[in-house]
Amino acid sequence: MRNLHKSFGSVAVLRGVSLDVPRGVCTAVMGGSGTGKSVLIKHIVGLMAPDKGAVWVHKQRVDRLKEAELDKLRLRVGFLFQGGALFDSMTVAENLDFILSRHSALGASARAERVQEALEWVNLGNKSGDFPAALSGGQRKRIALARSIILKPDILLCDEPTTGLDPVSVRVVSELLVRLRDALGITIVSITHDLLCAEITADRTCFLHQGRVVEEGTLAMLKASSHPELRNFFGAHA
Ligand SMILES: Nc1ncnc2c1ncn2[C@@H]1O[C@H](COP(=O)(O)OP(=O)(O)OP(=O)(O)O)[C@@H](O)[C@H]1O
Ligand SMILES: [Mg+2]
Repeated sequence: MRNLHKSFGSVAVLRGVSLDVPRGVCTAVMGGSGTGKSVLIKHIVGLMAPDKGAVWVHKQRVDRLKEAELDKLRLRVGFLFQGGALFDSMTVAENLDFILSRHSALGASARAERVQEALEWVNLGNKSGDFPAALSGGQRKRIALARSIILKPDILLCDEPTTGLDPVSVRVVSELLVRLRDALGITIVSITHDLLCAEITADRTCFLHQGRVVEEGTLAMLKASSHPELRNFFGAHA
């Protein structure tokens, strides 16, 4: 991302964000509430377009792609939305198959196999017939994660994958992200407030404040930063 600017009305949310996301590692995006983290990652798949600046993914200039080309890009980029967004009226398996039946050419039995494989990835192979309402918050996150990798993306964007979970579930979901990175080589960009999640997953971190990246490096570097906003953030999360 290069020099991204994005305003909504008179509110300037992104004010010149530049960020490199290296392949095959996990980059955590941190920052206070309302600083534009969700807005930023939506630019990566063209769910939002910048007022100014450029977004490159796989050598493609995303902010100039047409809708049909964006659709193709989105097949290679999984997105775990803040809140998960499972369909309550569908079983777990139907939630996953919904994506496959629309976006893959696989037949019914190959799709069923792929669904089962994704569920086993998140250690919930026995939940395929359950409805989301019957699952715990941590299990729902893991199902949403399974759904976001069902098309075997090479990039995964996660918007607060562990928010609202108890520490045990935070650890489970975070360790799953690490496995996706290590076993499948998926490049991960993960927005998180959660220090435990960042500690487990983040190879690199960056900190957004007032529409800019004010610090980047390892989590230890962010924690040692003398920037007042970071001192505040880590003070509050200590
Ligand atoms: N579609 C939109 N239309 C208008 N304003 C928006 C829109 N999306 C986001 N904003 C505004 O942009 C700002 C940043 O929002 P964003 O959702 O990126 O914050 P965030 O850093 O993800 O916060 P949180 O940690 O609470 O999720 C907020 O002031 C929000 O109101
Ligand atoms: Mg957000």
